[in-house]
Amino acid sequence: MWFKRMPIEKESPEELGYYKIKYNLAESSIRDYNLSQLNVELKDLTLSYGPHRGDIELRELIAQNYDNVSSEQVLVTSGAAMAIFITYIVLLKPGDHIVVLHPNYGSNIEVPRSLGCKVDLLKLRFEEGFKLNLKKLEDLITSETKIVSLTYPNNPTGAMISEKDLKKIIEIIENHNCYLLFDETYREMTFDQKLPLAASLSPRAISIESLSKSYGLPGIRIGWLVTQEKSLMESFLAAKEQITICNSVVDEKIAISVLKRRDDFLTEIKSQIKKRLKIVDSWMNKQKDLKWIKPQGGVVCFPRIEANVDVKNFYKILFENYGTLVGPGHWFGFKDHYFRLGYGWPSEEELKKGLENISKAIQETTK
Ligand SMILES: Cc1ncc(COP(=O)(O)O)c(C=O)c1O
Repeated sequence: MWFKRMPIEKESPEELGYYKIKYNLAESSIRDYNLSQLNVELKDLTLSYGPHRGDIELRELIAQNYDNVSSEQVLVTSGAAMAIFITYIVLLKPGDHIVVLHPNYGSNIEVPRSLGCKVDLLKLRFEEGFKLNLKKLEDLITSETKIVSLTYPNNPTGAMISEKDLKKIIEIIENHNCYLLFDETYREMTFDQKLPLAASLSPRAISIESLSKSYGLPGIRIGWLVTQEKSLMESFLAAKEQITICNSVVDEKIAISVLKRRDDFLTEIKSQIKKRLKIVDSWMNKQKDLKWIKPQGGVVCFPRIEANVDVKNFYKILFENYGTLVGPGHWFGFKDHYFRLGYGWPSEEELKKGLENISKAIQETTK
């Protein structure tokens, strides 16, 4: 097994240096909070190891947000990234078959590849409105399939599925005796009704969520997974103990404090997202050289440049002349005519300016 760095990580804003980017439309979260905005008292905190499953109060706060989930079914991890890694490393061995949604957050595809698994991609297509085709999903599953891995709301498309589809997917994976890894990192940013938590519907489903995207707290590295299966939880915990033993008690303390005020945070965050999406929508309506599938959740969308642009130059000019960064299609294994536009991170003014800059860079690089 070996890992190679993914372009999305190598070229990420934090690796590039935030200070170099004036209009950051490359992020997949809301704007990161500053510790002083959170009003968390840390000075009496004892810096001991924490409970290995995660602080009990934290796990209770997490479980309370779902129907039919208890705190024993929650394992706190270092971000959703670790939850994904643990799920795969416990359930897969080299040569196993897995079906993964594409496009997707890279680790969902790269980890099983690195483990030497046979990975079949379930491809969402722009021409089909990035809609999930359940028939295609079922056709890809074989008697060897161990996991079906889906991410909804999807990154980078913002696509969503219905509750009816989720229930059908659960039926499919149960009939085929495989597991469902359901990456719900963007769950709190669903525009319509949230889905029931996948893990609450079946012992064969593992749900993954985190505070990074919807709460703007990627720097505290708090995520979690949920499973009903006790023996699986024991194996997940064993894997976590091998990696890190427990989470940082500092991170957990901050997470508890925020989740106690969850509704206040999310009400404000959701109203900001709505405003930003309106700005993108009205800008998109004026773009003859761009097409998009309007997102149904999250804070990203995945438009396509229709003009005959010199793509390499487009990104170069956009960044070097206009200080604007977006996520190029190759971050997701797509052509660079697609790009991920993150509209939740910049301020309204930055967003408007960044969008104007995209229009200018397209014009200047059209052949
Ligand atoms: C769908 C999805 N899952 C998981 C992650 C990892 O997030 P974190 O480890 O910060 O919780 C990301 C980050 O971009 C993501 O987009």
